[in-house]
Formats: sequence, C-alpha cells, structure tokens
Amino acid sequence: MGCCKCCCFTLLVIIIIVAISSGLLTAFFPYPSHASCRVDWIFGKPCSDVKSTLISQMKAWSHDDCSLKQQCNYEYLGEEGSTIRGLHVTPWISFVDKINFTFNAASGGNCYVQAASESAAAYAVIDFGVNYCNLRNLVIGSKLDENDSSYKENSTNAVCTMYSIAHCNLYT
Ligand SMILES: *[C@@H]1O[C@H](CO)[C@@H](O)[C@H](O)[C@H]1NC(C)=O
Ligand SMILES: *[C@@H]1O[C@H](CO)[C@@H](O)[C@H](O)[C@H]1NC(C)=O
Ligand SMILES: *[C@@H]1O[C@H](CO)[C@@H](O)[C@H](O)[C@H]1NC(C)=O
Repeated sequence: MGCCKCCCFTLLVIIIIVAISSGLLTAFFPYPSHASCRVDWIFGKPCSDVKSTLISQMKAWSHDDCSLKQQCNYEYLGEEGSTIRGLHVTPWISFVDKINFTFNAASGGNCYVQAASESAAAYAVIDFGVNYCNLRNLVIGSKLDENDSSYKENSTNAVCTMYSIAHCNLYT
C-alpha cells in the first residue's frame, strides 16, 4: 500500500517535471528540434510560372562566387511530380541544406507553394535563420513578391527555426 502510494507520488512528480520543462522548453526554445524551416507562399500567378522562376533563380545562383552574400552556392537537383529540389551551402557557416518547393494550383488562378529547408548536418539545432533564408532569398531575389496583390507568406517559429527574428542578408 505504502509502496504503491510512493510509486504514484513519484510518477506524479515525474509528470509534473516533464510538463513544466516542456513548457519551459517551448518558452525558451520555440523552434524545431533540428534546424529546419517550413514556409508557405501564395502567388497570384500560375504554378508553372512560379516554378520556372524559382528554377531559374537557383541556376542563376549556382556559382560559388559569394561576394554578393547569399546569391551563390545553390544547386538545382530536379523535378519530381509537383516538387522541385535543390541544395544550398551557406558561405559563412558551410551548412549544406536540402530544399524543396511543392506547387499546388489554388483558387483564383493562384499558386500555393509549400517550401522546406533542412540542414543536412544532424547536429544543427540553431541555424541563424539560414534555413528560412535559403527559401526566402529565392523568392525575394527573383522578385516573385513584387506587384502581386495575392502574395502572402506564412510560417511560425514552431516549424521554422528563428523565423520571427531572421534577417535574410541578400544584398548587403
Ligand atoms: C521537403 O523537405 C522536408 C524537409 O526535409 C521534408 O520533410 C519533406 O518531406 C520534403 N517534401 C517532399 C515533397 O519531398
Ligand atoms: C513592379 O512594378 C514596378 C513599377 O511599375 C516596376 O518598376 C517593377 O519592374 C515591377 N516588378 C516586376 C517584378 O515586374
Ligand atoms: C500556413 O497557413 C495555412 C492555413 O492556415 C496552414 O495550414 C499552414 O500549416 C501554414 N503553414 C506553415 C508553414 O505554418
């Protein structure tokens, strides 16, 4: 009887500790446990246009001259169904990140794009926003955001490392 009570108490304490620490973890570390980013976009143009624009941008930035910050070191890996894949190596930190974009036609002639970037380095937890910027720089660099009243981006810290505080240094 006494033992059972003791077990229950221990269990309760463990549950409370786990609950508190996971709460604290999300408070202090709101990001994915492995450095990565998922971000979605809506564009007011056909997916075929968005896709070819992003492919061209990856190819245009495939050289390894990184004097213009992040406009380098992309590699376009190809297309598979409605998904395109690539790689990006961040010049100053040398992470190799895998990126992909999946295209789905949406209502009103819009294109809904689900993008993801993930550090190939298994130990990477904090990425200085690199995974987010791998994706965003292609969109901004190719001007897909300009003159598009349907343009929208959405993500959260929970699915994108450092989303809310990342500064994507594209040109300076
Ligand atoms: C895109 O990459 C993410 C992160 O690596 C992965 O979870 C997802 O399955 C990939 N999407 C496709 C369609 O391959
Ligand atoms: C957006 O509109 C401005 C003003 O008309 C123009 O200068 C710019 O080139 C346009 N951008 C794109 C990507 O079409
Ligand atoms: C963006 O918003 C849609 C609709 O609310 C949601 O389903 C999706 O998960 C969001 N994407 C990300 C990457 O948070």
